[in-house]
Amino acid sequence: MDQSLAKFSESISFDHRLYRHDIRGSIAHARMLAQQGILTQDECGQIEAELIRIQGLIDRKELPFKIELEDIHMHIEQALIDALGDVGRKLHTARSRNDQIATDLRLWVREGLDTVDRLLEELQRAYLSRCEQDAGVILPAYTHMQRAQPVLAAHYWLAYIEKLNRDRLRVADCRRRVNICPLGGAAVAGTSMPIDRHLTAELLGFESVATNSIDISSDRDFAVESVFVLSMIATHLSGWAEEWILWSTTEFGFIKLPQAFCTGSSIMPQKVNPDTLELTRGKSARVIGSLQTLLVLLKGLPLAYNRDLQEDKPPLFDAFDTVMACLELAVPIVRGSVLQVESISKRLDQGYLDATALMEAIMMQGVPQRTAHHKDGALVAMAHEQNNTLSQLIDDDFRKVDSGFDGAILRESLGVDGAVASYRSYGSSGPDFVTDQIASWKKKLQVESD
Ligand code: ARG
Repeated sequence: MDQSLAKFSESISFDHRLYRHDIRGSIAHARMLAQQGILTQDECGQIEAELIRIQGLIDRKELPFKIELEDIHMHIEQALIDALGDVGRKLHTARSRNDQIATDLRLWVREGLDTVDRLLEELQRAYLSRCEQDAGVILPAYTHMQRAQPVLAAHYWLAYIEKLNRDRLRVADCRRRVNICPLGGAAVAGTSMPIDRHLTAELLGFESVATNSIDISSDRDFAVESVFVLSMIATHLSGWAEEWILWSTTEFGFIKLPQAFCTGSSIMPQKVNPDTLELTRGKSARVIGSLQTLLVLLKGLPLAYNRDLQEDKPPLFDAFDTVMACLELAVPIVRGSVLQVESISKRLDQGYLDATALMEAIMMQGVPQRTAHHKDGALVAMAHEQNNTLSQLIDDDFRKVDSGFDGAILRESLGVDGAVASYRSYGSSGPDFVTDQIASWKKKLQVESD
């Protein structure tokens, strides 16, 4: 082989991180071969002991990687043969690198998904702890990025808990399709050797055995799916990062980010830059890009294994690394940020956040919605002209718009507190419902109630 091809085609520079999974797969394979009488117990014992020794070498970075040996599978097998000779040469019985790489990757992705799930749960807990920390705080909710209606801060945090929960459900669902054993599919057609694929699957903790050897060596759906799940997480994190970047500006003055996760400017000493959040927003591009890469990689491939598939690893690894890093940093930022309650509440009276609550109070008096909307508008215009808030309108003002209006009753749902207290629908920011939701998430996330 020309040296330029060796350089071009090697994957050891990135697939070396599969070594533990490769060795785990090989040990299960050897045990199965011994169980089936294809290897003797003694040969299996030697192979297993040697593979564990090789794992130690790689752990300690004592196994040199050479591009001539191409990938992680060949490195480990060569080290085994160097140590055991002919016994080592028997390990590759009834398997090929095609089902081997599929197995390694599935083991790796399964582990990755479990870590991501744990991090998502930690982030949910961080938001949940904020719900109590920020109890009673009211924030403006926005639509079209315009102040819309007042809501409890906890209602915001619960919204993120919901999104993260859907992410976790996707992780769990994706894991079911990852957790299927390809080993023993061999190159493409299966094998004439009397192997027991169900035993291998069981030894590796797989839920079931993949049923079609052609499909086995070509299937990377699980990789695409897992990177989609990660893309969705990255998209959620990016939206959140954008929101808190805005909220941390002087213009908003809603939140103070923890200093340890911000940076300074080299020439503007007054600045505190939200770099972690900006990078979280920026890194979502890489994850979404990896999803694109994987889809394009697969879209023109005939059955079954094609070497193109080697290119699945860099985007797959990068997507997992990136999302894990973002999640790890999101946790202390969510926990450590402080709502600027004073500056928020000072301006809650601006923007007529209680106008919708007033409209609903008018409707409660039997006025049709369209009419109530119109009269509410007239009241907002009147308040605006007087340079007042809605709760500052006097009884006469209400009567001017409609002689039947009772100012005392309508004022009950005014002001942000009145508006928030008036919400009563399932899923709303009503204080009782929000309290119930916090309790129910505490139970789901097994957080101690105080
Ligand atoms: N390094 C290869 C990959 O990542 C392993 C499988 C190679 N199989 C083959 N028939 N050349 O896809």
